[in-house]
Amino acid sequence: MKIGLLGCGIVGSGVYDIITQNMSPMVVDFEVLKALVKTPEEIIRPDMTNNVDDIFANDEIDTVVEAMGGIHPAYEFITRALKAGKNVVTANKAVVAKYLNEFTTLAKENGVKFMYEASVGGGVPWIKSLRQAMRIDEITHIGGIFNGTTNLILSEMEEKGLSFDECLKTAQKMGYAEADPTADIDGIDVRNKLIISTSIACGKQVLAEEIMTFGIRSIKECDLAYFKTLNKHIRLYAEAVIEDGKYCCRIEPRLFNVDEPEAGIKLNYNICSLYGKTIGTLKYIGQGAGKFPTANAMVQDLLDIDCGNATLPELDFNGNATCDMARLEGSYYVRYSEAVADKVEAAFDGIEYTAVEVNGAKAFVTSVIPTITLHDRIESVADAMPEIFVARV
Ligand code: HSE
Repeated sequence: MKIGLLGCGIVGSGVYDIITQNMSPMVVDFEVLKALVKTPEEIIRPDMTNNVDDIFANDEIDTVVEAMGGIHPAYEFITRALKAGKNVVTANKAVVAKYLNEFTTLAKENGVKFMYEASVGGGVPWIKSLRQAMRIDEITHIGGIFNGTTNLILSEMEEKGLSFDECLKTAQKMGYAEADPTADIDGIDVRNKLIISTSIACGKQVLAEEIMTFGIRSIKECDLAYFKTLNKHIRLYAEAVIEDGKYCCRIEPRLFNVDEPEAGIKLNYNICSLYGKTIGTLKYIGQGAGKFPTANAMVQDLLDIDCGNATLPELDFNGNATCDMARLEGSYYVRYSEAVADKVEAAFDGIEYTAVEVNGAKAFVTSVIPTITLHDRIESVADAMPEIFVARV
């Protein structure tokens, strides 16, 4: 296999190392012919170039590994590679979530493979497992902790009492966070991963604007202290139900009992789960972010292409999946500052809730309500959002 590598950052260099340092006997015949860097100053090896045409114009290169991240120019490069008859392997969840249908169609039209195992769950073999489960079952539920950065933040704040900023810095230093960590903290990265997973399960494209999303930006020490009194652990959890041809997705901080597997997921680890009628619940755990776990998933895709193993049922994402946002419900913890108390309490008028004791702030726990109702009420006080933290209890 002759490879053109787009991007030599953390993940790209991981792929390069696994291949060139012969970390696996199965990749000895793999060769990185060209590796794209952004500027001439970054060129430190003869295979490196800052001109992408050196990759597309090279007929020897049969497979492009995209490890740049972001939508542009990743979208243009992936479409160009597929149209040029080159297989594409990518870890880029943002571009895959948006253009899954287009990339899949282009790959089919050009007789090549488009593989994106590393885009969800890092090193966890999730996409392959999901597709394998679909050979027998309809998947009616998907759940998971899909982001290493926020999981590190929450588990380290919880366990070591460290501050949000300290934990975020660690995630950045370890190479887990996105270039702009807003995507991690506000649940956007998880949303992309849930779009990909749910689109696969539905066989149709799921849209970002139909996913109810809360992140962890406004969590404070007082929230964690309260959850500790309940003997519960907080994680950023993604969930989809798919029934009667309709899907409903949400991403939100959620509390877990100590004996639930999600409560034990720490640092950069992810957990990905599915439910199917005959298999029941399946859960997969592993490192969801980081150089070698993510690169490992990309090299697994390369091996599947090379061995002719990339043959799970073809997916066709034609058309949009139908959403019914009213299908999920829950009881919610809402914490807010004194400054916005009147607004928040007015916004929840008519909803049954119980005030709870939280040091230095006001908080209540609602009765079981549709998740969409919670989002509508919070939306009505969106300007106060930095002062509000929401979690499902
Ligand atoms: N920023 C992502 C995370 C990288 O922290 O999970 C892996 O997709």
